Amino acid sequence: MSPKIDLHCHIEGAASPDLVRALAQRNGIELPDGLFNGNGGFAWTNFLDFLKAYDLASSVIHTPLDYRDVMYEYLKSCAAEGTIYAEVFSSPDHAAETGISYAGHLEGLAAGIDDAERDFGIIGRVIVTCVRHLGPQRAGVIVDTIVAEPHPYVVGFGMGGDENAYQLSDFAPAFNKVSQAGLPCTVHAGEVCGPESVTDALDNLPVTRIGHGVRSIEDSGLVERIVTMGVTLEVCTGSNLALGLYDNAQNHPLRALLDAGCKVAFGSDDPPFFATSIGAEYDRAESEFGLSSQDIGQINSTAVDAAFCDEATRRLLRARL
Ligand code: ADE
Ligand code: ZN
Repeated sequence: MSPKIDLHCHIEGAASPDLVRALAQRNGIELPDGLFNGNGGFAWTNFLDFLKAYDLASSVIHTPLDYRDVMYEYLKSCAAEGTIYAEVFSSPDHAAETGISYAGHLEGLAAGIDDAERDFGIIGRVIVTCVRHLGPQRAGVIVDTIVAEPHPYVVGFGMGGDENAYQLSDFAPAFNKVSQAGLPCTVHAGEVCGPESVTDALDNLPVTRIGHGVRSIEDSGLVERIVTMGVTLEVCTGSNLALGLYDNAQNHPLRALLDAGCKVAFGSDDPPFFATSIGAEYDRAESEFGLSSQDIGQINSTAVDAAFCDEATRRLLRARL
């Protein structure tokens, strides 16, 4: 199996319907109404409805052990597809909703990472995120906590959520603080909103990567800027297709972004919501997007270069590729 790297997956969106059911049962809580569709998958209709379904699914995560299990199961499934490294977004805001402290959140995630590396050899790391629609004040609280309680597996900072909420400049103080503390940053942009959202990110935030960023293709000047700056786009085609950003692979800009010289790495985003996996992302890249094994090699090399891990881990990943 060829080696794979996942730079964009949300842990709160990574638990399968079966695992969500098991966690609800273990915690003695009722499954939220409307969480599942008739086929046993997660029910959602559009992007904002997906964000609500994602909140509902994560509401069954009640303890550090639950976070451990979600991380362990996710990394196990990645390793089974040949993944050597996964950078996983985590959301302390979602953890706090069910009473889990930042320390407990990380304790669980780290246990899942350690157990998965021991059992499957895969390396996992965490990018702590804030939620855009919860606003800059909450982002600031998360950043203060990250800086006050550093953890060796927390390698970066990011932001997901509703791209239409607030302005990115509102979040500049939080991003600047965490960046000055030495953590590299990424932000979701150019997914739901157009290229102006990516320009907004590059103008206002200290980011070296963009989550998705695929709609940058709509602005040739922006594409040039991305190439010149060496920004890496975390591309998740399964998510983009499931959310209807593009109706098929032919209309998706992955190939055009690569041809323009943009750096691209792959991510699975929220795999059970979008019927994907990191293995499926790589498979689709070849079967539907026509990428060659050389293209895939380039994407893996970009992913190692753009990973937020320390240099010793990067060397190890390079050796494993
Ligand atoms: N949170 C989880 N998945 C997300 C996505 N695809 N875009 C924005 N925020 C998210
Ligand atoms: Zn995402």
